[in-house]
Amino acid sequence: MEAMSTVGNERLAAVAGDVLSALHEVLERHQVTEQEWMAALAYLTEVGRADEFVLLSDVTRTSVLIDALSHRDDDGATASDVEGPLYVEDPPFREGTPAKIYDEYEGMGDADVLLIGGTVTSTSGGPLTDAVVDVWQTGPDGGYDIWDERQPEMNFRGRIRTGEDGGYQIQTMLPKPYTVPTEGPVGRYLAAVGQHAWRPAHIHFKVSAPGHRTLVTQVFFPGDPYLENDTIGAVKPALVRPVERRGEQLGCDFDIALAPA
Ligand SMILES: [Fe+2]
Repeated sequence: MEAMSTVGNERLAAVAGDVLSALHEVLERHQVTEQEWMAALAYLTEVGRADEFVLLSDVTRTSVLIDALSHRDDDGATASDVEGPLYVEDPPFREGTPAKIYDEYEGMGDADVLLIGGTVTSTSGGPLTDAVVDVWQTGPDGGYDIWDERQPEMNFRGRIRTGEDGGYQIQTMLPKPYTVPTEGPVGRYLAAVGQHAWRPAHIHFKVSAPGHRTLVTQVFFPGDPYLENDTIGAVKPALVRPVERRGEQLGCDFDIALAPA
């Protein structure tokens, strides 16, 4: 702790000092052996090599905690949620109303077409023109494009710009529940602690507009078997949005409010 006080960055000194104190206390309390500690270090090395630190943070519910701490004062804004490790930068802008974010592919599972849309507004009043709504989700087989060789690149991903009325409309398919990756070190952790790997079906959103805080969130759907026990604990009641049949398709309304920066 004394050594920490010489660190130039006060925030780093305060947090790192407490992290070490907490860690040392746990090691002492459980009388952790040299062999156990070396196994823990080897495990963390493996997590890094597999690029699974975000996933580890998610399944240990640490990401949810940080999200809650970071968005305490977004009064009136749409509830935020965890980004997760599956976002891909710069997905294509999708045109049309509704804007279709997928291509059909060989062997694609059966699912209902879902039209999801609403209005992006500012909590300080009024619709936001030219806001960017960036979405990503699994296809109807429960897989992301980056896991599923049959899907074209960037399938079920896309950016949509809001119109003058702040509106956006997306044509997608109703996603299904899926398991987070289990073949790597995080999968071994889940098996070891007896935690299942399932997430309820959801669509990820990242919404940005000039002068406003970017909102990262997820939308869930009623009746999903994993709403109550999402492996990353990210379900918020306000983000469970009703889905209704509208003719041949399903419809879901999701209005989004952004807080000023
Ligand atoms: Fe996801």
